[in-house]
Amino acid sequence: MASLSLRNIVKRYGIGSKAVQVIHGVNAEVKDGEFVVIVGPSGCGKSTLLRMVAGLEEISGGELRIGDRVVNDLEPAQRDIAMVFQNYALYPHMTNFENMAYGLKIAKVPKEEIQARVDKAAKILELGHLLQRKPRELSGGQRQRVAMGRAIVRQPQVFLFDEPLSNLDAKLRAQTRLEIQKLHRELGITSLFVTHDQVEAMTLAERMIVMNAGNMEQFGTPEEVYSRPATTFVASFIGSPPMNLLKNAPGGRPGSILGIRPEHLDVGDSGWALQVETVELLGAERLVHARLGDEMLIIRTHEDQGAPAIGSTIHAQPREDRLHWFDAQTGQRQ
Ligand SMILES: Nc1ncnc2c1ncn2[C@@H]1O[C@H](COP(=O)(O)OP(=O)(O)O)[C@@H](O)[C@H]1O
Ligand SMILES: [Mg+2]
Repeated sequence: MASLSLRNIVKRYGIGSKAVQVIHGVNAEVKDGEFVVIVGPSGCGKSTLLRMVAGLEEISGGELRIGDRVVNDLEPAQRDIAMVFQNYALYPHMTNFENMAYGLKIAKVPKEEIQARVDKAAKILELGHLLQRKPRELSGGQRQRVAMGRAIVRQPQVFLFDEPLSNLDAKLRAQTRLEIQKLHRELGITSLFVTHDQVEAMTLAERMIVMNAGNMEQFGTPEEVYSRPATTFVASFIGSPPMNLLKNAPGGRPGSILGIRPEHLDVGDSGWALQVETVELLGAERLVHARLGDEMLIIRTHEDQGAPAIGSTIHAQPREDRLHWFDAQTGQRQ
């Protein structure tokens, strides 16, 4: 196992005047055995960052260490990493056993050792009874487990996952998420896990890196990121529905944006006067979309609180200790 150190990592595609920089200096120290999620919208540079760690993309600037080795110029095979992709990338003509064993066979690991490692991984992943089948004879979730098994048998220093759950339906995704958590508890291998899904990030991460347009906006535990977002971007990307960000709230500060999460507004007899525009019932909770002057905000209420009438005026009190202030120019937390 190993720690992972990203120091001022930069990526440029193209050369000379045509070069485009897509990663703008990412700094992160991932601890030995830690599970770190990289989360951000499509195109923000998550895969590029992961592929630089894997050695599949050249690093344009900065220093990457795995353990105490600088690996910038090492080939993927020399980095002691294993990667799991969204599309599984299994060989269709091989059995699941052969797929899991393939990398070891190439590396000339003795046959008995291969058998032992594949058996162990198959046991952890509950794939034992499927090893003699071909990938096409499996469900999507089972295929993804074979892909993970292939990574596990390598016994790498670092696991890299690039949106491995994106091809699964919602229920299977939630289930596989739990399996990945269990796997990490059992194996304790340092992991970088990329996703665009903030719920996946919140539930899997020990710490998470929030990316936006090639910049790291925040690196912290899910609790830190949720309760103290570093920027307006993080405030609106993490949490569903997103944090309300108001320029002209009553009691606001000049030059500051006021942030308040939908669950931190209490409907009652006092507070801001709001006009109800839409109400959404989501099972246990109800989202009230309401107008405050020229701005819209969302309040999260319980289903048993009843629905306010569309067009009616309600009052909502923002919780004093749950207010967030951001610089209106830079978006940085104040
Ligand atoms: N080979 C490439 N050449 C030029 N630009 C690229 C290349 N690969 C990715 N990019 C650009 O880099 C940015 C980040 O892409 P990517 O890392 O794939 O984002 P993500 O995985 O977060 O969706 C995007 O703007 C994308 O267009
Ligand atoms: Mg990607």
